[in-house]
Amino acid sequence: MSSQGLAQSTDRMRDAGVAPAAVDVFARFYRLLESGATGMIPEADVEPLTDVTHRDDLHVPDDTAREALRRTAVIKLNGGLGTSMGMDRAKSLLTVRDTDPQRPDSGPLTFLDVIVAQVRAARHTTGAPLPLLLMNSFRTQDDTLAALTPHDDLPVPGLPLDFLQNREPKLLATDLTPVDWPADPELEWCPPGHGDLYTALHASGALRALLDAGYRYASVSNSDNLGAAPDATMAGWFATSGAPFAAEVARRTPADRKGGHLVVRRSDGRLVLRETAQTPKDDQDAAADISRHRYFNTNNLWLDLEALAAELDRTGGVLELPLIKNTKTVDPTDPSSPEVVQIESAMGAAVEVFDGAVAIEVGRDRFLPVKTTNDLLVLRSDVYDLDDAYRFVARTDAPLVDLDPAHYKTIAAFDARFDDGTPSLRAARSLTVRGDWAFGSGVTVTGDAVLADPGGSARVPDGAVVGPDGVSD
Ligand code: UTP
Repeated sequence: MSSQGLAQSTDRMRDAGVAPAAVDVFARFYRLLESGATGMIPEADVEPLTDVTHRDDLHVPDDTAREALRRTAVIKLNGGLGTSMGMDRAKSLLTVRDTDPQRPDSGPLTFLDVIVAQVRAARHTTGAPLPLLLMNSFRTQDDTLAALTPHDDLPVPGLPLDFLQNREPKLLATDLTPVDWPADPELEWCPPGHGDLYTALHASGALRALLDAGYRYASVSNSDNLGAAPDATMAGWFATSGAPFAAEVARRTPADRKGGHLVVRRSDGRLVLRETAQTPKDDQDAAADISRHRYFNTNNLWLDLEALAAELDRTGGVLELPLIKNTKTVDPTDPSSPEVVQIESAMGAAVEVFDGAVAIEVGRDRFLPVKTTNDLLVLRSDVYDLDDAYRFVARTDAPLVDLDPAHYKTIAAFDARFDDGTPSLRAARSLTVRGDWAFGSGVTVTGDAVLADPGGSARVPDGAVVGPDGVSD
């Protein structure tokens, strides 16, 4: 373990042309990592977040909302590689619907197509220019821009369609030196998590370009969350609030007990994001108490770009975000390749950097993340309809899907087993699959459905019903 590892890493970054501010950010995190900093946030130092206004209780005059939306840009985080689903490219290029309901002959819709359609629909109804900017990484940029080419009405004059986030070396877990991987040198690098948004916006010049073109606000969200469609009411609320930063939060349910949540820091009254890893052992019960700590961060944020530019200018482009230490293998598709540490940070953690940052409560309709193939199956199914503005509208409570990780974890394995179409899940409360089942076409799932391990591979026949007792024709 050594500062030799730091010097080697920063040399590599400079040689690769990484922006100086991104090298500084990396160096700060590296030192934190070396010092064993834990970033713990004890319960005694915080108060629960309470009395958050709900988006549906906002009263924003139409003209205020439209005026704010006219000055709003939409930023989608698209730099992640979907490694949890065995991918090495952007999740937004996955298919999410087999057909476009408004153009049934035009083929399947990807997440990216839906994002574009949501922006286009909002432009149409509000008249706002709504520039869309994707934050890509070196691994997602080419594919994503190629996929955008058919959408030739999308670009807004003078603004880029994307900006590139930074790259940093993966570090060997044994000694924190940059890993060498001659078999595929690109795998020696990783994007530094979505906390890199701020450095990347600044260093790429995209922030300046937006401000120069008259845009004051940004609505930022994950490209794998199709719930985060443009919202004029929230734009109007944010603009009139005068806040530099707002986090959309949602109520925690028992399923969210283990996750991160927002708290208020006693020492200065600021909002802080507390992840599970930042909660001391003795405080785990208090942190898991969802009636005490009621809200989690959806990762949908609102930024005042002028306030952001001022803060970044003041700090030389380095926001002091907490460190996230992510341990993976150098080749994410090969569990036997050497273990590496990836230094990351989370975009939402910046809530503590801004004096006057606020939270706004939203419903689950604005939070439809796809982290696993379980999530993808539900989103692809008839549980959701796409409305005229390409928003996903739930027709029923989403069922709890639990597919056998041994056979459905990667997108390739999942797609191979649902090749003939997505089953109907509208009448299902849950679906648990153990073992290796492929699904035929026109399958309907009902109630608390269970498919037990058939031993080898098996197939649910076309048109079958799957219920609590397994398959029936
Ligand atoms: P996730 O936390 O789901 O990460 O990202 P991921 O990288 O897509 O997937 P895994 O963890 O490898 O399986 C949430 C959002 O943040 C973006 C992703 O593209 C996604 O929209 N993201 C993540 C970035 O833009 N850059 C990053 O460095 C990491």
